[in-house]
Amino acid sequence: MPFTAVRPSIPRVYGRWQGGRDPHGQWRGGKDTFAPDRAIADLVVEKVPGFEDVIWQNWAFLKRAVGHLAKEAGVQQFIDIGPGLPVDGEPLLPDIARKYQPEASWLAVDNDQQVLVRWRQELDRGDDRLQVMFGDLRDPARILANSQRFLNLSRPTAVLMGAVVHFVLDEDGPADIMRTFRDTLAPGSRLVLTHATADGAKDDAKAGVKEAAEEYTDAVARITLRSYDQVAALLDGWTLREPGLAKTVDLLVPEDGLIYAADAPHAWAAVAVVSRE
Ligand SMILES: C[S@@+](CC[C@H](N)C(=O)[O-])C[C@H]1O[C@@H](n2cnc3c(N)ncnc32)[C@H](O)[C@@H]1O
Repeated sequence: MPFTAVRPSIPRVYGRWQGGRDPHGQWRGGKDTFAPDRAIADLVVEKVPGFEDVIWQNWAFLKRAVGHLAKEAGVQQFIDIGPGLPVDGEPLLPDIARKYQPEASWLAVDNDQQVLVRWRQELDRGDDRLQVMFGDLRDPARILANSQRFLNLSRPTAVLMGAVVHFVLDEDGPADIMRTFRDTLAPGSRLVLTHATADGAKDDAKAGVKEAAEEYTDAVARITLRSYDQVAALLDGWTLREPGLAKTVDLLVPEDGLIYAADAPHAWAAVAVVSRE
């Protein structure tokens, strides 16, 4: 997406929530946001009370997942598709991986110019194992081909798709996209997926979720909320880590217990493995 400040952008609206609120209850929500981003972000939270928990839970899960993959699975190569804007006061995911795999290579791929510029600023620290690349998830073959310039895809690689696949419309073939990754990545490669859904909304809140999705679609980008079965179908052929497709809040939970309200509206999440012979 080209840069514009007059129309909200996917990463800026998300970034508004991702930083959480300050002790005065104000969104920290990003020096990167503009008034149109803040307006739609606030409207969505108004229509879906507790929505900010979905974002917190999503972000907390991604941090846990990266730590898990680096520490427990020994993954040393990561492709983060749709990384969003780095958040002040929060670690970068590559830094979490490097805690356990100091030599880990990290490729950030996005189709938003502002995200690419922000991530390229991180290259200033002289990190030759961090790369930033334009790529569109709807063209997975190109992402994978271009990734080879930086990564060795014959080795296990983790692909992160955090809160991005719901921007792929049904007519853009999300199942084919997931299959391309599954068939190209080396055995032992991992997928970390989170996906927006209306499944978690209680009955009296479903109308609000629908309205919020429509407002978001009109203002920002078309979003496809998918049900459990629809997201599960996208993972056909992947071997899901226990407990399978689950709420972000229920996956890879640290032993000290849940941090966030488990009955909030939620997103679906999974950690999956390429396990063909
Ligand atoms: C909601 S943010 C999620 C950020 C981060 N992954 C997380 O979950 O915390 C979605 C990101 O995906 C990017 N994105 C949306 N559609 C995309 C596409 N078709 N190809 C690549 N990136 C895309 C956006 O620019 C944004 O950076």
